[in-house]
Amino acid sequence: MPAIIDAPPARSTLPVAPERVYLSEVVAALSYALDITEGQPEGHAVRSCLIGMRLADALGLTSTQRSALFYALLLKDLGCSSNAARICQLFGADDLTYKHDVKLRDWADFPQSMVDLIRSLAPDGSPLDRVALLVKLGVEGGGAAVRQLFEVRCHRGAAIALQLGFGPETAAAISALDEHWDGRGSPAGLRGEVIPLLGRILCLAQTVEIFASNLGLDAARRMAEKRRGTWFDPALVDAMEPLWEDHALWHAFSGDARQALAAYRPDDRELRADDTMLDRLAEAFAQVIDAKSPWTFAHSTGVAEKAVGAGTIMGLSPAELRDLRRAALLHDIGKLGVSSRILDKPGRLSAEEMAAMRQHARYTREILERVDCFRDLAYVASLHHERLDGSGYPYGLRGAELPLAARLLAVADCCDALCAERPYRRALPWPEVRAILLREAGTGLCAESVAALCAFMDASAAPHARA
Ligand SMILES: [Fe+2]
Ligand SMILES: [Fe+2]
Repeated sequence: MPAIIDAPPARSTLPVAPERVYLSEVVAALSYALDITEGQPEGHAVRSCLIGMRLADALGLTSTQRSALFYALLLKDLGCSSNAARICQLFGADDLTYKHDVKLRDWADFPQSMVDLIRSLAPDGSPLDRVALLVKLGVEGGGAAVRQLFEVRCHRGAAIALQLGFGPETAAAISALDEHWDGRGSPAGLRGEVIPLLGRILCLAQTVEIFASNLGLDAARRMAEKRRGTWFDPALVDAMEPLWEDHALWHAFSGDARQALAAYRPDDRELRADDTMLDRLAEAFAQVIDAKSPWTFAHSTGVAEKAVGAGTIMGLSPAELRDLRRAALLHDIGKLGVSSRILDKPGRLSAEEMAAMRQHARYTREILERVDCFRDLAYVASLHHERLDGSGYPYGLRGAELPLAARLLAVADCCDALCAERPYRRALPWPEVRAILLREAGTGLCAESVAALCAFMDASAAPHARA
């Protein structure tokens, strides 16, 4: 989980010009959002990237291969939110805990995986709950259902990488992330050298990182040697040999590993993250956020459309609209750190669950502040549940303390949520949503922003309710 920032937000210093922003740094910073979705300690993808790039050195990969590998390692978990809700449904378990724990097991060992599976079913439930889930899992095709979890994750991740403009080698590596040398991996059961080399490197690098960070370096080394020839390409485990004694490499694990990663910035992709690329990244991560729950399908893009529509009517400048759109696309990125058991709960949340849910606004700020050029945006995005009368969260700010962009975001977020179906209620038709927004105008919500959004929605020809 991200560290929590308690103090009201401090504004960033100087804005960072896009021409000074390295794509590799933006991607590395955003990879922290994928780490928390996988239930891994923050920096997991960056540290996996360090290990993988050291393997690339040892293997003498070409600069094209190194570039594809670098981004595949950072973005390997782009599809990880896509199976979160299904994991909760299949196993009755917290997706973040399940994902964390399963990575420390040899899930390709069938007898062991069955024992682990039974242990992980409905951890808070009764033995009867566990039996019911086991029967349900059997009915739903057990192994096939689990394989589907991998399939969704790997293919979705590869598809988003391609949308971002990365090449087929990067996408193929992400697709093959969980394939094993002996053919017992998932989702395709590829074997040996049929698995793309970069995919084999991803599998070894991520597993070593997980063991090293969670259980220590000795445990990571024992695991790699034990799984040589089963999970991992033997040649890659052999190439790891000198790395185990490389204290500088493992020392980088104790701090912010992004500094050590700068030395591996790909030559051919020493790209600056221009406005187009920053927009594409925001759109890609909006997809990752929305995939976390079946109830938030297209929510982030819906909020962006509504916020920009209202902002245009209010006369915001093109630069302000660009930043508002990015803030809207990323406003719920903190939800990646909240369990799907809470996000998708059909009934009323307990006080504890509500507190966990509310943390997502703080996580949003924490995640986005790592991206230098998104610092101001991080502040605005984290305020989307604040209300003019001080009744909102996370900071309980009031009136003039809330910038216009945050007010617009709050109205657009409310509107899109009300127009969509939720586990606890149907989608509301636009006239009903309109009435609710107008009732809140001037107390919780900014009256000018509500008026602008209503004008935008009234003028829009598209049907507003989303089932
Ligand atoms: Fe939110
Ligand atoms: Fe939202």
